[in-house]
Amino acid sequence: MLKEILLVIGAYLVGSVPTGLLLAKALGGVDIRTTGSGNIGATNVYRTLGKKVGIMTLVGDCLKGAIPVVIAQQMGLSVEWSAAVGAAAFLGHVYTIFLGFKGGKGVATALGVFLAMAPLAVLCALAVFIVVILTWRYVSLASISAAATMPIFILLLGNPPPIVVMTLLISALVIYKHRENIDRLRNGTESKFKA
Ligand code: G3P
Repeated sequence: MLKEILLVIGAYLVGSVPTGLLLAKALGGVDIRTTGSGNIGATNVYRTLGKKVGIMTLVGDCLKGAIPVVIAQQMGLSVEWSAAVGAAAFLGHVYTIFLGFKGGKGVATALGVFLAMAPLAVLCALAVFIVVILTWRYVSLASISAAATMPIFILLLGNPPPIVVMTLLISALVIYKHRENIDRLRNGTESKFKA
């Protein structure tokens, strides 16, 4: 039990590392919280500093979700505990202890968690994401759509209850964290993705 609890705490701390904030400061000299949408995630880093730093943020945030789950799986933790580890990494990003519990929206970290726990469902959600972004050009709308459909894919693919519960928590929080984007989408002021 001690091993499991330490892994959950470790996952939360790993998830808490604000990759985008650190990369934007180190490589662009900017506080990413003061530009664009103010979010610390890959989309805003991409918007502010371009493709290279944006992709580095995406990969870093994704690894924060995937690595703790893979370690949990390799150490033989139960699916319940592995899901708890995944949720902890995600919560670390969204409510990071290093920034007064004001973190990001969790999409890339959730991607990492799901790549490790339910890769087939990721393929389905990714298809939704791609269709939405190609059609409307809003990353936020694509993220919200992928988050909203993920629990359905997880259920249809027969994942066990702990993964279903973890997915419902993650999806609900991803959508909740996009509430300002939702307001902007509704009043037509959300910025479109420029490749
Ligand atoms: O993953 C975050 C994305 O969906 C929206 O980012 O910067 O446009 O709020 P942003």
